[in-house]
Amino acid sequence: MRVLIAVFNQKGGVGKTTTALNLAAAAARNGHTVTLIDLDPQAHLTSILGVPPERGRDSMFGFYQDDRPLHSLVVDWPGLGKLMPAHSELIKVDSIFGKGPAILGKLHRGLEQYRSDEPNRTVIIDCCPFLGVLSLNAVFCADTVVAPVSTDFLALRGAQQLERTLNALNGVLKRRVERRYVLTRFDARRRISHEIRAQLHELFGDDACEMVIRESVDLTESPALGKDVFSHSPKGRGAEDYERLYRDVFGLSVPE
Ligand SMILES: Nc1ncnc2c1ncn2[C@@H]1O[C@H](COP(=O)(O)OP(=O)(O)O)[C@@H](O)[C@H]1O
Ligand SMILES: [Mg+2]
Repeated sequence: MRVLIAVFNQKGGVGKTTTALNLAAAAARNGHTVTLIDLDPQAHLTSILGVPPERGRDSMFGFYQDDRPLHSLVVDWPGLGKLMPAHSELIKVDSIFGKGPAILGKLHRGLEQYRSDEPNRTVIIDCCPFLGVLSLNAVFCADTVVAPVSTDFLALRGAQQLERTLNALNGVLKRRVERRYVLTRFDARRRISHEIRAQLHELFGDDACEMVIRESVDLTESPALGKDVFSHSPKGRGAEDYERLYRDVFGLSVPE
């Protein structure tokens, strides 16, 4: 199966990096060959692996600035697959390239080349929390956009903005980008969690996942240990929830 997923929401702190990492880990455990791309100048995903490139040109910035081929940037992520790392210099991409049509398709073209030897590679992109060249690049090549929505109103607003952006892009891309809105940091004891869940379903219907990612200590702890949640706590609720998200996004049945 050939799948390219962009994890995006304009709001920060909603669980994008947590979702990109643990969705990738779930896919790898289910037999996928996985490449993660860190497309956020904050480079949180890269820092979880613990080997941030010293020079911008050895990160995704090198792909944009120096036209480096993507395969020359990958580093191994033991047990998970590969990572194309980020660097703080990525913040310059918007001001260097603006939003011309050629730059918006750059990642798509780079990934076509990267995947030519192994077309079934599953690629998961961790986006930054604003809609500029980088995030548009990710959305342009995505089969599916996974939008984490934490249980607060600003995260829901971010999802609504994303929905408008994706709908506006339908015409440009001549296809409908699939989207999965997934509630994160769900705490059943808090009324707001249930309110946001109801609104998410009202706003997005079938594009909203039935399953939720619950608030869990495993998910807060694992990045500090440089691990995905399956390696850190395989029987915990974080691992259970991300396995369910994997099944949802890949069109498999999700157990009750
Ligand atoms: N389901 C969850 N339960 C507990 N903590 C979470 C959960 N999801 C994310 N977090 C924590 O919330 C913070 C923000 O998450 P992160 O994935 O970095 O968001 P983003 O990439 O959208 O900015 C991180 O400290 C992360 O560990
Ligand atoms: Mg992040």
